[in-house]
Amino acid sequence: MAVRIVEVGPRDGLQNIRDTIPTSTKLELIQRLHQTGLQTIELTSVVSPKAIPQLADCREVLGNPDIKALLENPQLRLPVLVPNVKGLEIAKQLGVREIAVFISATEGFSKANINCTVEQGIERSTQLASLAIASDILVRGYVSCIFADPFDGSTPLPAVLRCVRSLLDAGCYEVSLGDTLGIGSPANVRELLNYLITNGIPVERLAGHFHDTYGQAAANAWEAFNNGITVFDSSVGGLGGCPFAPGAKGNVASEDLVYMFHNAGILTGVDLSKLVETGNWVCKKLGKSNSSRAGTALMTK
Ligand code: HMG
Ligand code: MG
Repeated sequence: MAVRIVEVGPRDGLQNIRDTIPTSTKLELIQRLHQTGLQTIELTSVVSPKAIPQLADCREVLGNPDIKALLENPQLRLPVLVPNVKGLEIAKQLGVREIAVFISATEGFSKANINCTVEQGIERSTQLASLAIASDILVRGYVSCIFADPFDGSTPLPAVLRCVRSLLDAGCYEVSLGDTLGIGSPANVRELLNYLITNGIPVERLAGHFHDTYGQAAANAWEAFNNGITVFDSSVGGLGGCPFAPGAKGNVASEDLVYMFHNAGILTGVDLSKLVETGNWVCKKLGKSNSSRAGTALMTK
């Protein structure tokens, strides 16, 4: 039995950090993550630099010769988050072979994050997916605010279903379910997955993206795994968060997921000790405390 870890550290992990991070640190982070055996790494986003100033150097990251070499490696999946045709065009020119499109199940976060309604978000991502697929670019989808929205409160189950279905119909090979606020717990995960699966969504096309604000993220991933999900987004050192989701904390730490799955005999293909080193290295570089419990415990051994 194996799971696939989608490392989102270079994108979700860094996007909400205010102090400018040198491009060289981002490049080294990607290389170190690659060295751990991770096969899927979200490299950056090509979004408005006004919305996410931290990732305004996406062209330098993607255009770097060492990253270009990774992009040409057919074993690797290196998605880049894009919100619109402008982002797709830039990504395409830089040799990106996979993009991630993103919508929210809720109006408040949709407006704050991508300046449009849920319906417009669905239309944009559908158009984007069709353009990408026509250029042989794979498309992954995200649905944010699966449990709650920072402005609108709790999210109705049918709102999530509508978004997941739209992204799959648009041609996304997989849809990642984002608990943007990190507010859900395993009972919520079970309820949502039962609802989606009962309504015809194939569980093998779903992934889990759990932020850890309430300390539930690893438990949520485990519950999702026990309900059939085998793809999990996570971030080294538990970095992460979105500037448009105030108060939300980082993603579940990659080290914690790898530790949890390995202890259950489930393969990830990741070298835990190299991952732990990378988490400690990047947190030191960024001057952040390491949110990975396994990472800090194993480092002090
Ligand atoms: P807008 O202001 O409505 O759009 O923003 P616009 O078309 O008027 O563009 C505004 C400016 O941005 C223009 O520049 C554009 O050229 C530029 P100006 O003329 O003012 O100088 N621009 C771009 N520049 C580079 N690349 C682009 C691009 N597009 C426009 N692709 C827009 C709408 C969607 C562009 C904006 O709101 C945006 O970029 N939003 C992205 C926000 C974001 O990245 N949020 C974090 C990622 S989502 C997340 O974290 C959740 C997730 O992790 C899952 C979960 O946890 O739930 C995925
Ligand atoms: Mg996120």
